[in-house]
Amino acid sequence: MIIQKSTNPRISNFDPNNFSFGNVFIDHMIICEYENGKWGEVQLVPYGPIGFTPAMMGVNYGQACFEGMKAYKDKDGQVFLFRPEKNFERINKSAKRLAIPEISEEIFLEGLKALVDIDRDWIPYGEGTSLYLRPLLFATEEALKARISEKYMFAIVATPAKSYYTAPVSVKISDHYSRAASGGVGAAKAAGNYAASFYPTQLAIEEGYDQIIWTDDCSHEYFEESGTMNVFVRINDTIYTPSTSDKILDGVTRDSFIKLAEKRGINLVIGDVKVSDVIEAQKNGTLKEVWGVGTAVVTSIFEALGYQGERLELPKLSDEESFAVQLKNDLVNIQTNQAEDPFGWRVLV
Ligand code: COI
Repeated sequence: MIIQKSTNPRISNFDPNNFSFGNVFIDHMIICEYENGKWGEVQLVPYGPIGFTPAMMGVNYGQACFEGMKAYKDKDGQVFLFRPEKNFERINKSAKRLAIPEISEEIFLEGLKALVDIDRDWIPYGEGTSLYLRPLLFATEEALKARISEKYMFAIVATPAKSYYTAPVSVKISDHYSRAASGGVGAAKAAGNYAASFYPTQLAIEEGYDQIIWTDDCSHEYFEESGTMNVFVRINDTIYTPSTSDKILDGVTRDSFIKLAEKRGINLVIGDVKVSDVIEAQKNGTLKEVWGVGTAVVTSIFEALGYQGERLELPKLSDEESFAVQLKNDLVNIQTNQAEDPFGWRVLV
């Protein structure tokens, strides 16, 4: 690994009690370039701009994908990554779908660990805080023919994080737009999936909602995801989440929630979540909770669903009553080394 330390660290300007997610970046970043059919050496360098022209293929044709993951600090100052092998597997799954050359586990994990290690002082400690890591892959060749790029960059940047959505949010169940189509790139963490979600989300916001529940592109009868998250629904004491498919992202937080729900002995059904069943449950009072999960947000609890012009309120449960809160606490306690790690999810850096 090539290491070039920052000569102008900004950490002394960072106030861990006063920052917003995603606007401040740690002193270093990882870069690694691909050309002539192979990945080069991993470089740990000062965070900053990298020079490309507008003819860069990644910005013209969207050959770009990313990951979201976090590092956590415990009360003794030890630092842990959470299930980094899952993000490694997924970035290569995304890369494959976008015809981007896959990266080795060594490039991914060594880069991550070196970055987190050198900038460990940037990791905030305290409830809801972490360091959000953003590994990304994008096409860098300067060419305008619409074809697979011959040059790429793998990079990791990181930003201190705290709770992403603070208050309960209202979500509109989409009856027109969809996030993904069969045979498309929905299961990849493709940059373009996020671009395509912004306009429908903006329309939902104009209607008074915060987010969208994405339904299937064919019939809009089934839940798929919510905002940038996977979605869970609780009817009576059973929780439901859509199965992953080529349209649904295989979320690490989703998988962790499933394992934690099983450990708690909560009834869990992974399969079709029908919009009409959720609406009926809301009407007859058996719909207890709907929530989203993702790395950035961890858990976002929904207070209302928008459906066919109607705003349907969800019950306000106490923390003790809420499965979403219980599972979130189980997860965060493992991530931050406040609980046993029966699944072997923490990786000490
Ligand atoms: C994540 O939860 O890591 C995401 O991908 C959401 C992100 C777009 C902020």
